[in-house]
Amino acid sequence: MSEPPNAQEPRQPLHARLRQNPYGPRPGESPPYLAGRTSQIKEWARPVRRLIDSGRVGAPIFFTAPRGLGKTVLLRELQTHATDAGFVTAWVTANAVESLVGALLASVRSAIANTMRSEAAGLLARLDMIKLTAGLPGVLQLEASTRSSDKIEVSFTAELAALARALADKGATGLMLFVDELQSAPSEDLEAIVPALQEWTAAHNAAPLMFIGSGPIQLSRVLAARGGFAERFQYVTLERLSDLDSMSAFTLGLPAGFQWLPGAVDAAVGAAEGHPYMIQLIGHYAWEVSDSSMIARPFFSTGDIGVAVERAGGEIRRVFEGRWADTPDAERRVLAVVSAADQAGLSRRQVADEAGMPFREAESAVDRLYANGWLDVDGLERVRIGLPGVAEFVNRRQQ
Ligand SMILES: Nc1ncnc2c1ncn2[C@@H]1O[C@H](COP(=O)(O)OP(=O)(O)OP(=O)(O)O)[C@@H](O)[C@H]1O
Ligand SMILES: [Mg+2]
Repeated sequence: MSEPPNAQEPRQPLHARLRQNPYGPRPGESPPYLAGRTSQIKEWARPVRRLIDSGRVGAPIFFTAPRGLGKTVLLRELQTHATDAGFVTAWVTANAVESLVGALLASVRSAIANTMRSEAAGLLARLDMIKLTAGLPGVLQLEASTRSSDKIEVSFTAELAALARALADKGATGLMLFVDELQSAPSEDLEAIVPALQEWTAAHNAAPLMFIGSGPIQLSRVLAARGGFAERFQYVTLERLSDLDSMSAFTLGLPAGFQWLPGAVDAAVGAAEGHPYMIQLIGHYAWEVSDSSMIARPFFSTGDIGVAVERAGGEIRRVFEGRWADTPDAERRVLAVVSAADQAGLSRRQVADEAGMPFREAESAVDRLYANGWLDVDGLERVRIGLPGVAEFVNRRQQ
């Protein structure tokens, strides 16, 4: 039998009764519902299945997309699935100043220490001795702990494969490495890792080991430049969400009983144009302006969405105001012609022609604008404005 309510119990203070905003508009922040990524999750699940069945190294997978389309949150979702499946997982967000090999080893180390506890000691001692040797593709140095002058060279692949096997011996399913923003890693690290990844795929090593990376659409070019045959890796692209998936992204994962009044979902889906970042931004502001934090206000109206879309647009404009000042003339010209085009966008050749620029110059302007989030480049060819509201902003600046 349940306890009768206690009349003496103090009322909860207001802040404790407020419902938290469920949307996640910050970069890498998980959404209430990860919509429209089933096919990409399957692309990952298939080789994982093979790895578990055969005990052999899984081919690396790289997820690529323009900014804000959901690479980080997809990788986080896969990491959760990998952990559920019994993998020890390591996560690194690569950057230009920190050694990627070093960061990966540190992350593997702490993952083992956290998940394997007492069984981990022997594995950790060996990991401590590995250092990256500059200039030798795929080769790492292992220092004997007693005298630092005693160094032997080992392959990155062989070390990680041995570690994955040792983890499996101690009851884990294997080892899975996640590297977000792979393109940002220092070139000497990429020159060590990329050939090693190729080698581990080609050798069909018997080790439960897998590598997952993410980066912008140019990632295949970046990796090719660092290691030869990187074009042969598996690349999986994330696109904008369909209207149906956008609807799921807006409406699923909210508190039970939460409602959208007639017309509100359509208005929100229409304004976000399938962009996951816009969806979270609009959802976030709709929650705030509608006072949905209060239990007594469990719905969004079209009016709430209208105000939220305006605020989301304002936020986007603030971000791009800051970037505009640093945008050179050639890039502004390219932005002007793409902003004037319709939703279908322009080919790179059309961009050059309409901006009256040599093809190469237009092309490098497009690449820089893409890297800075102004433009999307579908399939490396179709050039469009990256976010709703940006075209309007550019058109106004051009007047
Ligand atoms: N499938 C999805 N469904 C709903 N929301 C999503 C989805 N994917 C991403 N988001 C939301 O979109 C925003 C951007 O996601 P994320 O930071 O993962 O993008 P990204 O591709 O890593 O961007 P960047 O290139 O800037 O690192 C976040 O607010 C996230 O919650
Ligand atoms: Mg990211």
